[in-house]
Amino acid sequence: MAPRALIAGNWKMNLDRAAGEALAKALAAEAAAVSVELAVCPPAVYVASVGVALGSSGVALGAQDCHAAASGAHTGDTAAEMLADLGCTYVIVGHSERRADHGESDATVHAKAEAARRAGLVPIICVGETEAERDAGRTLDVVEGQVRGSVPQGLTGATLVIAYEPVWAIGTGRTPTADDVATVHAHIRKVLGEVSGDAANVRLLYGGSVKPANAAELMAVANVNGALVGGASLKAGDFLGIAKATP
Ligand code: 13P
Repeated sequence: MAPRALIAGNWKMNLDRAAGEALAKALAAEAAAVSVELAVCPPAVYVASVGVALGSSGVALGAQDCHAAASGAHTGDTAAEMLADLGCTYVIVGHSERRADHGESDATVHAKAEAARRAGLVPIICVGETEAERDAGRTLDVVEGQVRGSVPQGLTGATLVIAYEPVWAIGTGRTPTADDVATVHAHIRKVLGEVSGDAANVRLLYGGSVKPANAAELMAVANVNGALVGGASLKAGDFLGIAKATP
């Protein structure tokens, strides 16, 4: 049986405190009406107040990044333990925007995923090819390399989520075909079998321009167990529309 789907919102650097709390409350009010698991990942400064707004609704709280160390001289960074302390369940690591803007390597992402495990958080580890890599026919090689380099050994369906986000599909309105997504997700599942003894139960999310209008098609693809949503996660109606279109 496929694992329960997860629809996670990555708010990125958007929404002020009042808007984020209002969105969290709107989602909290609807959580019981959807069959999938919902999660939101607000900007770090708002994780605490969004967590309060979510209350005991069952909508999970996540963050967008963490540092590999548990504490220390790392100005401006946030430890996974601090996020756990605020009630987070999830932390996104290795998003392509962090790989690009902050030069994060697979080794860095691996260390952050280990930090998440240490703190009792579930890492949502992001992988995905650039447009140039896709055009060169290297999609599966690139994604396989990122999975091997970024995913710690021994995590399970309960302690790991992977998000496939083709860089060229993020914020562009463009998406791969359902067949392309199926091919990449099947490959990730296969490679994961060498890294995790529980690969069949690890949720593999698709991310990149997911919206209510394309969610039903993308979420029905084999080995797709939910979505990591950017722009469409900023409006309750759109985010819930995606959740309701997900089997
Ligand atoms: P969009 O849904 O805005 O394309 O962003 C996807 C993403 O990067 C989620 O992490």
